[in-house]
Amino acid sequence: MTHLIFIGAPGSGKGTQAARLVAEKGLKHISTGDLLRSEIAKGSELGKEVKAVMDSGALVSDNLVIRLLQANIDLQKSQYIFDGYPRNIAQAETLDKEVLKGSPSTAVFFDIDMERLVARLTNRRTCKDCGAIYNLISKTPKITGVCDKCGSTNLVQRADDKEDVIKNRLQVFQDAITPVLKYYQDLGRLMRVDAEKTEDEIFNQIASKI
Ligand code: AP5
Ligand code: MG
Repeated sequence: MTHLIFIGAPGSGKGTQAARLVAEKGLKHISTGDLLRSEIAKGSELGKEVKAVMDSGALVSDNLVIRLLQANIDLQKSQYIFDGYPRNIAQAETLDKEVLKGSPSTAVFFDIDMERLVARLTNRRTCKDCGAIYNLISKTPKITGVCDKCGSTNLVQRADDKEDVIKNRLQVFQDAITPVLKYYQDLGRLMRVDAEKTEDEIFNQIASKI
């Protein structure tokens, strides 16, 4: 059993593929972005602390994110997809030393031309009730404005999916990711997927490795 570590730019499709792997292969999905957004929605002290940082597209502190991650996983019980963690080399090292501690894992890099991502993200809509991910261009719900999965009419745009914030998120990703990819490459644990392919093609490529 190998845990999967999803690495990819904002909008590269990490959450979309994670949802399918949960539904069709029974993996557990842990997204640090989703955990942080749920703290904001709850109005917790932690949520209040991180809201402005996330709204600007910057990274939340390593220390805070690792504590949140540790509190929400039980590696003995399930095969996990780590989505959005690690995002820098310090987090990659922490994940190995303090979380995985030798459990097998494969890093999956969602490789995509950055130019495509602003359009993908400005057209993303997410179901506020069940988290299902849609796109106004490439993945519309069967009935306009209604979630296919849970029937909710709360299909919303994420607070950080505004064009200027997206540009900052893409820059933050580019600034930190090269050493992370090298780290996994050097350890022989890196798999690349062409994230410009269709959702089905990407799913089949990842599923064939687990
Ligand atoms: P996070 O929530 O992790 O966001 P992100 O990394 O910016 O990635 P996204 O969720 O935007 O994109 P995705 O790759 O999941 O794409 P999706 O599948 O939705 O993090 C948000 C923030 O939290 C960070 O900015 C930071 O502040 C903080 N944070 C989180 N983790 C942290 C950490 N470890 N350390 C510090 N701070 C942290 O797809 C996008 C769109 O594309 C959808 O509309 C979808 O339908 C469409 N799509 C998907 N696949 C395809 C395809 N193959 N073809 C066409 N369209 C597709
Ligand atoms: Mg996501």
